[in-house]
Amino acid sequence: MMDFKMKLSQELKPHMGDMTQEEILTSIEIPKNTDMGDFAFPCFRLAKVYRKAPNMIAQELAEKMELSEAFDKVESVGGYLNFFVNKAFFTQKVLEAVITEKSTYGSSDMGVGKNVILEFSSPNIAKPFHIGHIRTTVIGNALYKIYQFLGYNTIAINHLGDYGTQFGKLIVAFKNWGDEETVRANPIPELLKLYVKFHEVAEEQPELEDESRAWFKKLEEGEEEALRLWKWFREVSLDEFNRVYNMLGITFDSYAGESFYSDKIPSVVEMMEQKGILKKSQGAEIVDLEAYGMPPALIRKSDGSSLYITRDIAAAVYRKDTYDFHKNVYVVGSQQILHFQQILKVLELMGFEWAEDCVHVPFGMVSLEEGTISTRKGRVVFLEDVLKQAVEKTKEIINVKNPNIENLETVAEQVGIGAVVFQELSNNRIKDYTFDWDKVLNFEGETGPYVQYTHARASSVLRKAGMELDTSFDASLLNDEVSMMVIKELQIFPEVVQDAHRKNEPSIITRQIIDVAQAFNRFYHDHSILVEDVELKKARLAVVYAVKQVLNNGLSLLGIQAPEKM
Ligand code: ARG
Repeated sequence: MMDFKMKLSQELKPHMGDMTQEEILTSIEIPKNTDMGDFAFPCFRLAKVYRKAPNMIAQELAEKMELSEAFDKVESVGGYLNFFVNKAFFTQKVLEAVITEKSTYGSSDMGVGKNVILEFSSPNIAKPFHIGHIRTTVIGNALYKIYQFLGYNTIAINHLGDYGTQFGKLIVAFKNWGDEETVRANPIPELLKLYVKFHEVAEEQPELEDESRAWFKKLEEGEEEALRLWKWFREVSLDEFNRVYNMLGITFDSYAGESFYSDKIPSVVEMMEQKGILKKSQGAEIVDLEAYGMPPALIRKSDGSSLYITRDIAAAVYRKDTYDFHKNVYVVGSQQILHFQQILKVLELMGFEWAEDCVHVPFGMVSLEEGTISTRKGRVVFLEDVLKQAVEKTKEIINVKNPNIENLETVAEQVGIGAVVFQELSNNRIKDYTFDWDKVLNFEGETGPYVQYTHARASSVLRKAGMELDTSFDASLLNDEVSMMVIKELQIFPEVVQDAHRKNEPSIITRQIIDVAQAFNRFYHDHSILVEDVELKKARLAVVYAVKQVLNNGLSLLGIQAPEKM
């Protein structure tokens, strides 16, 4: 893709005294009002070079500068140089880039040779994979794809919550009241029931607590029965989780969860000891963080068992050793901000300079209005049920809109699940929001179905046109305002991807592809595409093709499918 800003900075360079290319580039602005041109350059810093007032300099430069074919004209207004791109040239370059780069349009090789870990989803085994996990799962997956698109070597890690004293309780409950067949038939709800029962009964029989501690100790020591049961709980839980990951099209490179680090803890604790940061406090071992305005990090309980944070610290050290990461990104809710601040501080106190490469990407909560989603039992909303309901509801909508559609099942899955994912990625991630079916599935709003529908519309035009596409179209036929709007939206896509990456914010892409879709729908509404005039038809089809491609690239970065028909 030709970078117009870069090109302009090169053309400005000979007139800029000792300003560097980089300085010129960062000074170039994009005016809000297109009457002020497509790019603007402020001349205030040049006053020293020319020893003149900025508006004089702007006036002189506007007369003197010889512009390349990329620009039509330059005007001086109040110390600014306003540049107007040559529309036909601009359009030609943008469309050419999309058409030739195809699925790589917007990508980059900036990350080549750098390992980036994206840790996301990380549900707890033997517990429901519920609606609260959706954001980490889809935001994490989108970031994974964005980093990959920019050339990084990405590693997706599911840091399963598969360790801790609760598994002692579960073992006791299963041995007392559990039944293998029942659990096999309906693993997570049954395990959850057992867990709840444990707490009810333990109210009356506190000795169960001691029993459970004993079983957890056996598990830590690798005793056969304890290990077998725990492995089984993990396995049946993973089967359930994987059903959801399959629906979402998500895969992980590693399922190294909390248990994976249990044998890596002693050496990490030893390092803390050597650094002199480990303190005894009421029998437990802690790292005091008072000086940093934080509560202490509890590293080991008085019985020697590790904690959630201990396993996280061991995990970070292991990941650095194993992957030598450039960035270690944690996509975890904002309730855990303090937890991650503590981790980073402890790593820093341990002397690890790379602590600053560990990044917590927090996000806000989803809430549900009562009755939004019918639940199996009780109050827990399983993510799987939300996705299934989305598919069912979508099927009903499509049946009305397009009763003759082939592959209703597949399309309803792509659209229904895509709608939920799109919604999760629509808002600034840090904001809390309320899940609402009408918003999620509205085909006309700023939604996934709207963008997918626009993509299908573009696909349908291309099918009807039935002609090979090439880059030999006459771009000067696309000089009207409405076409230019589309071209401009397409042109900024690569920058938008960069921005989303810099801010770890997929919603920047979500919003951009809505803009592309809206600009295109205006174009589609105002212009006939399959017209008699072959040249005009070719030029307009190039726009349609490029829009389809950019929507496709955007959706795919968000982890959403782009059906050809719907
Ligand atoms: N299992 C935890 C939960 O469901 C999330 C784990 C987050 N990741 C981490 N490295 N602590 O709340």
